[in-house]
Amino acid sequence: MSNLLISPSILSADFAKLGEEVADITTAGADMIHIDVMDGHFVPNITIGPQVVRALRSYSDKPFDVHLMIAPADPYLEAFAQAGADIISIHPEAGPHLHRSLQTITQLGKKAGVVLNPSTHETAIEHVIDCVDLILVMSINPGFGGQTFLPSQLPKIAALRTMIDRSGRKILLEVDGGVTPETARACIDAGADTLVAGTAAFKGGPSAYVANLAALKAAVA
Ligand code: DX5
Ligand code: ZN
Repeated sequence: MSNLLISPSILSADFAKLGEEVADITTAGADMIHIDVMDGHFVPNITIGPQVVRALRSYSDKPFDVHLMIAPADPYLEAFAQAGADIISIHPEAGPHLHRSLQTITQLGKKAGVVLNPSTHETAIEHVIDCVDLILVMSINPGFGGQTFLPSQLPKIAALRTMIDRSGRKILLEVDGGVTPETARACIDAGADTLVAGTAAFKGGPSAYVANLAALKAAVA
């Protein structure tokens, strides 16, 4: 697949030098920068907030793909938009009014994404598909990097590909969790066009980033 997009997750980067890490992975060929925001409540881990997103903004000219694992998300959408997010993705379980939240993201001038947990059915997006620019399928339970890919999510990716194609809208179909050169192929075969990679992108440190991203692209070529 020639137009595969790779969105490295900085959750697996060296947090002591995050700016350099974002610059290095950008130079290595990242198409987007995936930023995992966790609140210790919606998921059992705590990461970063909008101030860090703002601080990182000048280290990459690629879109910031911000994955919000926080509840509620609504009070923070504007802050992440102003901090430099380009895509803001939310989980349906994070608030009572998914459609309204997606409208808010769009009104902030950003691309709106919906994230489906492993147990969340693809029909969760059926009646909001006209407000969606990206659908993110979790192939792990959110909260931590380095988990094992769940093949049970592949039929969901295929079902979403059919829904997207029927909609006629330009919607990215992204997969997040356990993506490696070994699992990437199945994601793309099921219909995904964008892959998040944490461990697979950042393993080995900066000198390995070009090879890491090339291995992912080669796996689906
Ligand atoms: C987990 C995050 C993922 C994570 C993926 O909740 O949403 O983006 O960084 O890490 P890997 O690629 O190591 O599974
Ligand atoms: Zn993520």
